[in-house]
Amino acid sequence: MTAIRYITPLREGGSVPGLVETDDLGTYVAKFTGAAQGRKALVAEVVSGELARRLDLRMPDLVRLRFDPVIARGEPDEEVQAVLKASGGLNLGMDFLPGSVGYDPLAFGVEPAEASRIVWFDAVVNNVDRSWRNPNMLIWHRKLWLIDHGAALIWHHNWPGAAASAGRPYNATDHALARFTDLDKVASAAAELAPRVTPELLREVTALIPDEWLDGEPGFARPDEVRAAYVDVLTERAATVHERVTMSAPRTADAPPEWLRIWVEGKNK
Ligand SMILES: Nc1ncnc2c1ncn2[C@@H]1O[C@H](COP(=O)(O)OP(=O)(O)O)[C@@H](O)[C@H]1O
Ligand SMILES: [Mg+2]
Repeated sequence: MTAIRYITPLREGGSVPGLVETDDLGTYVAKFTGAAQGRKALVAEVVSGELARRLDLRMPDLVRLRFDPVIARGEPDEEVQAVLKASGGLNLGMDFLPGSVGYDPLAFGVEPAEASRIVWFDAVVNNVDRSWRNPNMLIWHRKLWLIDHGAALIWHHNWPGAAASAGRPYNATDHALARFTDLDKVASAAAELAPRVTPELLREVTALIPDEWLDGEPGFARPDEVRAAYVDVLTERAATVHERVTMSAPRTADAPPEWLRIWVEGKNK
């Protein structure tokens, strides 16, 4: 796809993605290579997002997006302008879900089986960006959709230590869906999904990363070597991470305040 119109920046999180119109008249959320998080955030989006989709978790379509900063000359914010100027060429587009709203765990209950699959998936890709403070999920047509995997795969910022990181635990205490699951249910989700995360599937997923986001990675001679490294770490994590998910008791902040409990009990008398 080629972006033909820059509509507006989206300011909720840190990376300032932009809403763009493309040459197929679609509307996409553009994730830019020139953002502070760099091209690795886009690699994390592709690998995690395409893995999620293959595990039947709801994920908007991802596309390769050509972007020419010239189309965004009218953007007045200097900081955003700097990101756009640094992002000429290939970027990532995510299908925009019009009319979606940010997920709120207090307003929208999620089936335990679905919540458990998502928590397990986030443990596999080491996603630290799905907390109740910042859920990075949307409700669209009454269903839950995953977005924003830019902070996942944190070990790819330090490849020499990545093999050791594959064995690291995942603390799901603050996960936005923790209240709908528990360790036994996460283990059941792992039993169901882990056998599907084969090296073949991971090779299919990593083949979708553009070479130019992998070129020049220190310690690797070719993009395919980097892809193989992603396959190795994710194969290992998918097989064993459920043994290392931790989740402490529900936060007391989840309990109703004392005055409300007394008031409700009074009403129910
Ligand atoms: N596919 C999408 N459809 C609709 N809104 C989106 C979509 N992707 C992102 N957004 C909105 O833009 C915000 C920022 O996007 P996000 O991917 O979370 O980037 P970041 O947190 O790095 O800034 C989201 O919180 C959400 O409100
Ligand atoms: Mg976000």
